[in-house]
Amino acid sequence: MTIDTLTLVDLDAAIEIDLESFLPGELGTSAEDPRAVRERSLREELTRTWARLRAARDESGALLGYTLFWHVVDELHLLNVAVAVRSRRQGLGRALMLDLIAYARSHAIVRILLEVRVSNGAALALYDSLGFTRFNVRPRYYSDGEDAIELQLLV
Ligand SMILES: CC(C)(COP(=O)(O)OP(=O)(O)OC[C@H]1O[C@@H](n2cnc3c(N)ncnc32)[C@H](O)[C@@H]1OP(=O)(O)O)[C@@H](O)C(=O)NCCC(=O)NCCS
Repeated sequence: MTIDTLTLVDLDAAIEIDLESFLPGELGTSAEDPRAVRERSLREELTRTWARLRAARDESGALLGYTLFWHVVDELHLLNVAVAVRSRRQGLGRALMLDLIAYARSHAIVRILLEVRVSNGAALALYDSLGFTRFNVRPRYYSDGEDAIELQLLV
């Protein structure tokens, strides 16, 4: 497994990972096609100068998972970390998060911020194991009414 930059060539594979990782309602309103919503969003992120997209790949270069984060002055905001269902529980999510932390350390970042659904036990366990701490709950943050937990890692 290697981690490098995600580019436009990876777009379809990244959309597939998102479609199997998130509920349609998490990717847009129910009236919209989730695939189109996700494609539009990822294309936009790929043009943002402050957005970083990192790709975990197998030996053939196929995309297995990715992170999307924003570099805003001295903070990183993690918008997404997702691993293909078939590749989960093999250390890829942790490797992508360690890559994020390494980026932070080499770019004078003071903290990494993220939010996650209260029900997302897998992600919370991953973030907890890396030393992220919970500092706020945003009630009904998600469109289906679920609360978000805000976490940070001081770098
Ligand atoms: C969260 C996610 C990225 C983890 O990816 P992964 O490659 O399976 O994670 P890893 O194999 O590196 O596991 C790292 C740690 O995460 C935790 N973890 C991962 N999956 C878990 C699960 N299903 N249940 C409980 N803990 C879990 C464990 O602490 C694990 O460490 P361990 O294997 O030593 O027990 C993956 O489940 C995913 O893509 N989920 C859908 C997208 C999502 O919810 N993203 C986060 C919100 S943006």
